[in-house]
Amino acid sequence: MTDQATHRKATKYPYFEEATSAEVVNARMAPDADPRLRQVMATIVKHLHAAVKEIEPTHDEWLAAIKFLTDTGHMCTDWRQEFILLSDTLGVSMLVDAINNRKPTGATENTILGPFYVPDAPHYPNGGNISLDGKGEPLVVRGTIRDAQGKPIAGAKIDVWQANDDGFYDVQQKGVQPDMNLRGLFTSDGEGQYWFRSAKPRYYPIPDDGPVGKLLAKLGRHPNRAAHLHMIVTAPGFEPVVTHIFTPDCPYLEEDAVFGVKESLIADFQHIDDPVRAKELGFANPFSSVNWDFVLAPATEGAAERTMFHVSAS
Ligand code: BEZ
Ligand code: FE
Repeated sequence: MTDQATHRKATKYPYFEEATSAEVVNARMAPDADPRLRQVMATIVKHLHAAVKEIEPTHDEWLAAIKFLTDTGHMCTDWRQEFILLSDTLGVSMLVDAINNRKPTGATENTILGPFYVPDAPHYPNGGNISLDGKGEPLVVRGTIRDAQGKPIAGAKIDVWQANDDGFYDVQQKGVQPDMNLRGLFTSDGEGQYWFRSAKPRYYPIPDDGPVGKLLAKLGRHPNRAAHLHMIVTAPGFEPVVTHIFTPDCPYLEEDAVFGVKESLIADFQHIDDPVRAKELGFANPFSSVNWDFVLAPATEGAAERTMFHVSAS
């Protein structure tokens, strides 16, 4: 035994060693720390250390990674959440959504919420037109909201929002688009039916002028989202569904930048050339039409904790 070794005494915590690095770090957590936080941090530290061991970054590479995260933080504002974009483009938002929305077969599937949802959209009667800028091909959307047994659900709320024909949401173009352009809240009637008028959505890029956009470009990935309408459907006694309707003719359907497309959410949009029907709808001819039904799953215990869209009994 060397002189140096004889000075060693039993330590409260193990000293850092490359081979046991994750265990050394995790051993520092207090036994009475919140158990869920302990579990989460132990898992993150274990996998982060494993990734670093596999990658073996140089100091410069590690600093570049830290700079990327710093730039991502600096890009965030009230209207721009670059960390959510990072989560979206890495498929993590969709994974968290899938884990928390394991719906019974036949129920309308969830997909990504995205950063452009705004609460308190104007409430329209059925048939209302949410296209306040009048751009793009007119669209009529109709459907029925049912439970898993096929019974229509009266009084369900359908909250809709979408980008305009230039590929921007109203909140991205304040002062350019009318406020609340292409947003509306509808209520299903006594037969569970809803309908509204809008504009056919087109594909658009997620905000790509920040670090996430630069990363996508370096990876040879485009920033485009497949054309879609967003919808949140809620009804007392049922699980809310946060979802999209996708157009079938979009070139980005199979390569949505945030992995939001599910086959069950691709709708059959019809291109209609019929001046009489167009006139009845107050549309220019031609226009698009889509029928889209929703099936809501019954509310389960813990549903309220799993979603930010709570439904009051009123
Ligand atoms: C959206 O569909 O609005 C969206 C979703 C994820 C990232 C950016 C935009
Ligand atoms: Fe969107």
